[in-house]
Amino acid sequence: METGLHGEEVVRAFYRMIHTIGMYQDNNTLVHDAVSKFMASARRLVKDGDLEILIWRGRIFFQGERLPYRRETFALAGAWLDFFQKRRLAGIRFHSHVEHAHASEFVFLARLLNGSLNQENPAEWLDDQLLARGIHWVEPIREIEEPLPDEDPGAHFDDPSRVLERRKKARQSYLRGVDAVKTVSRKISVHSPAGIRKIRRLAQNMVELVLEDESLMHCLASIRDYDDYTYTHSINVALLSMCMGRRIGLSHVLLEQLGVCGMLHDLGKVEISRDILHKPGRLAPEEWEVMERHPLNGVMHILRLNAPAEMKSRIALGPFEHHLKVDLTGYPKTRLTRDITLFGRILSIVDTYDALTSHRAYRARTLLPNEALSLMWHRLYRQFDPILLKVFVHMMGPFPAGSVVRLNTGALGVVMGPDPGSETAGTRVLLLEKDDGNGFRKGEILNLTKPNAETETTGQWILSCLSPSAVGIQPAQFLLQ
Ligand SMILES: [Fe+2]
Ligand SMILES: [Fe+2]
Repeated sequence: METGLHGEEVVRAFYRMIHTIGMYQDNNTLVHDAVSKFMASARRLVKDGDLEILIWRGRIFFQGERLPYRRETFALAGAWLDFFQKRRLAGIRFHSHVEHAHASEFVFLARLLNGSLNQENPAEWLDDQLLARGIHWVEPIREIEEPLPDEDPGAHFDDPSRVLERRKKARQSYLRGVDAVKTVSRKISVHSPAGIRKIRRLAQNMVELVLEDESLMHCLASIRDYDDYTYTHSINVALLSMCMGRRIGLSHVLLEQLGVCGMLHDLGKVEISRDILHKPGRLAPEEWEVMERHPLNGVMHILRLNAPAEMKSRIALGPFEHHLKVDLTGYPKTRLTRDITLFGRILSIVDTYDALTSHRAYRARTLLPNEALSLMWHRLYRQFDPILLKVFVHMMGPFPAGSVVRLNTGALGVVMGPDPGSETAGTRVLLLEKDDGNGFRKGEILNLTKPNAETETTGQWILSCLSPSAVGIQPAQFLLQ
């Protein structure tokens, strides 16, 4: 049978189950029949992996494929869309352990879905209720905010109110991300149970932001915080990994998982003392041994998280592999005979870049973004997957967002990233003007075209990069306000 017909069968059985349970008591035979039918079709199909029904631009997608339009199922599709849209849900995902779920749990789920209509935030409420009942085999998917289908996505890209709104959302997600990673780490360090619902929700938010405005995510990922290094580093790694994932065409679901991997990749550092983490100079052999254990410890913590086993198995490998090189050297020492996974290869590139460009006590000088890229491209390239490294270097551009630059005119600026509307991939630079005190204020935004591009140039170009500390600024602060 084709996916379309499978999908139709599941959608029909699911809708009928919810509808029937909405009308009758739990012990009614009709309820029993409807639940049994849905359970049977879900169990049959979930053998091939997660079962996902999603609404995207007014159409129903089953396992990523759009359900074909058929006159017989027109009313069913309409009812399903209406049901989910009223609850601001984009769909629902069943994990493989739905096979072991009990019929009473399906009734509970259906009553929750029916009851979520009156909640202020139905997705969040459903998450909390399911968690409280210990149900991990199902996951409501939040509605994805996007422009209306007929709207040109680029039309309002530079609309000032939208830009401000996006920046606010981005800043909030970043701060919440740092907070969520901190909370999980703290819980683990005191051996209390930790879950990742919040982290997953934030990863979903970040997927939306990455799809909407990649340059803004590059700006966010240029945030540096010495005191909270491990947490900001984790969010930066998550953001840039997701941007890379988007470039290579990963699905929403995989982008979310990659984001979670990024946020949790250094979870194993909770066991490492601050003295070792912030030690100036080289680590002693016994200290290095402790450091080398963090990828493996991280996996242990991930596997103990209060989350569906399947999700944990998907997010554990990347963090385990993030210090392994493509030839399987690096750490932890492993007897792997297979290649490093895609997530591991992405994390290793992004992790190296963020670490090189962050202030670390053991290094005399922090590299500028363009220096780090050049080092990775010319000297460290053997460590990485060559194609992914190319994608990364291309994505970051010659002057990554957040670089502080001096122009040929003597002006100072902060790179905002590539111009989203420019075919010649011009770089946008926010000029910095001296303010009344000793600082700077935001000036005009310039769009510098590529040198030698066969287009009119502005007569201005980037002469050199500077260290933000030399100028006394935190570049992200100018880009995100
Ligand atoms: Fe690490
Ligand atoms: Fe790291």
